[in-house]
Amino acid sequence: MRNPIIVALDVPNAEQAITLADQVAPAVGAFKIGKELFTAVGPDIVRRIRATGASVFLDLKFHDIPNTVAKAVASAVRLDVQMVTIHTSGGPAMMRAAEESAQKTALQLGRPAPLVLGVTVLTSMDGNELAAIGCDSNVGRHVERLAKLAMDCGLRGLVCSPLEIAALRQIIPAHAQLVTPGIRTGSEKADDQKRTLTPKEAMDAGASWLVIGRPIYAADNPRESAEKILASLT
Ligand code: C5P
Repeated sequence: MRNPIIVALDVPNAEQAITLADQVAPAVGAFKIGKELFTAVGPDIVRRIRATGASVFLDLKFHDIPNTVAKAVASAVRLDVQMVTIHTSGGPAMMRAAEESAQKTALQLGRPAPLVLGVTVLTSMDGNELAAIGCDSNVGRHVERLAKLAMDCGLRGLVCSPLEIAALRQIIPAHAQLVTPGIRTGSEKADDQKRTLTPKEAMDAGASWLVIGRPIYAADNPRESAEKILASLT
């Protein structure tokens, strides 16, 4: 079985990121580098994590005009990441440009194209927030609309909340990959994640990958925590 655990390296500097990655690498499938770490230390952290042989999910959620997003995705492909995120609300032309750029640049470099993952509605947004920006105030309906659009535009995966997995599996092709944060085992301290599933529940619902941050990096023993989560999936 492929290891579906992606550990979020939500730490402020390169040293902490490398230490954490070294600690948990044998028990996980990939690492997510997000805005905090990337903005603090730059693309070199991607190269350093890739140099350990680990896969990287670059979670910068690009949202801009198609030309700019295509160039940003090309830069991500040159960094040799395996997954990259864009906002589906950037629209069809932007999504198509991102996917085309991933395929074209990867072909030029002779490597597999990274998965360009679409982010639908941020889980921090509720119906009132959606209505305030002029969207359908029904969150589930808006997520489904953006998910279908992303598939029509050629994206091969989406980021979604654990509670959206089952509904999305009904409307997207079986080969589409779903990457899911909001995973909690039940044994960690309460935090800002409100709507969670356990790792096993999320996989059973149809997740392809689990993004896990605090349950691993804030544990007393991150390696042991990752191993326990992996064991819980079988
Ligand atoms: O620590 P925790 O397991 O909550 O970390 C989850 C990771 O997934 C964080 O990097 C967070 O930014 C990201 N994420 C999320 N919810 C989303 C999208 C991304 O928690 N809807």
